[in-house]
Amino acid sequence: MWTLDSLLERARPGDRVLVRADLNVPLSVLPTESVPPSLWAVADDTRIRATLPTLERLMAAGLRVIVCSHLGRPDGAEARFSLAPVARVLGSLLETPVQFAGGMPIGPERDRLVAEIGEGDIGLLENLRFDPREKQNDDSFALGLVAGIDYFVNDAFGTCHRAHASVVGTAARRPAFAGALVERELEVLSKVRDRCDRPFWVILGGAKVSDKIGVIEHLRDSVEGFVVGGGMANTFLAAQGIPTGKSRIEPDALELARRLLDQEGGPEWEFPVDAQVGNSVDDPNAELFTIGDDPGERMFLDVGPKTIERFRQALSSARTIFWNGPPGVFEKEPFSGGTRALAEMLAAHPGMVVVGGGDTAAAARQFGIADSVTHVCTGGGAALEFLEGKELPGLAALEAAMGGAEGR
Ligand code: 3PG
Repeated sequence: MWTLDSLLERARPGDRVLVRADLNVPLSVLPTESVPPSLWAVADDTRIRATLPTLERLMAAGLRVIVCSHLGRPDGAEARFSLAPVARVLGSLLETPVQFAGGMPIGPERDRLVAEIGEGDIGLLENLRFDPREKQNDDSFALGLVAGIDYFVNDAFGTCHRAHASVVGTAARRPAFAGALVERELEVLSKVRDRCDRPFWVILGGAKVSDKIGVIEHLRDSVEGFVVGGGMANTFLAAQGIPTGKSRIEPDALELARRLLDQEGGPEWEFPVDAQVGNSVDDPNAELFTIGDDPGERMFLDVGPKTIERFRQALSSARTIFWNGPPGVFEKEPFSGGTRALAEMLAAHPGMVVVGGGDTAAAARQFGIADSVTHVCTGGGAALEFLEGKELPGLAALEAAMGGAEGR
């Protein structure tokens, strides 16, 4: 796979480069017709910051940098999914104006930007998903994106599991390179998946067992154990006949959970032994509860201190830990203690600690540990698919582009 270094060796100042970034960030002021776009704000700029090293290197080399991304899942050109607020934040982080081509991602504004942008300057196209051809991986859309462009850089690790026009079609039509973020994510995740230092433990949480089954199956022979919290732990507890009250479980996955636990010679499993319970996620009061008793109408919404202590013991000798999925409803204060304690434990852990998944990365930031762990992935679905051993179309397109670029 060609990287940024090889692009910078061959490109000349003034060349035009299209950068596919993943600027799919949460917005804090929900954009509506009644709130003017100038007030829409970005709630979490992590993904924007993550792509800055790539953009800064390209700009410093005097390239004309055109960035493109999706935001959310709009149904056509819905103004509330505009990338305009992202352009503002990107500009303030780079300390230079970002020229924004509004309207549609392909059209007169885009063409003007590509034609007029100066050396070392940067511009951003409007949300790629405003045009349905993006998700259809339509040839004409990919061709429109690379018109007038010399090179393509994919820095959108979080979107590499999508076979969309801006991810794969563009890479097939111009010399294509991995950005610094894609390179870093690949380096860390390949180490976790293929050659990590053992003991290796995986912490799983989040709602569903079925969402994580691919990762469990793929990693089960290379891990010492799984630590399970959050909604998916409820399904495992129920599968063992333990009362879970009104906690959300996944009835369709009970059999699967039993099968996983019954596998001979498999990894160790750690489940919660106590919980913070409430009547709903909005309950203002959490109550400590011993798992095994009858919770009646209540729900398990966080893990308790004894569970955290058990998790600490299980993880203490791990040389590699991958954390995907919070153990509780950490967004709600009464049920945030377990996730906070786990995050703080991981921040102090001496081995390699990798955090993956949108909610888990948000928890890492909320509890201030993002800079204390080895790596926080910018991709949720992409990281999981990578760890499942699946081929990611965006990475495959960069690999395939190698031959094409070599001949040029
Ligand atoms: C993500 O947030 O996981 C990526 O930006 C991909 O978004 P998508 O799931 O809407 O394709």
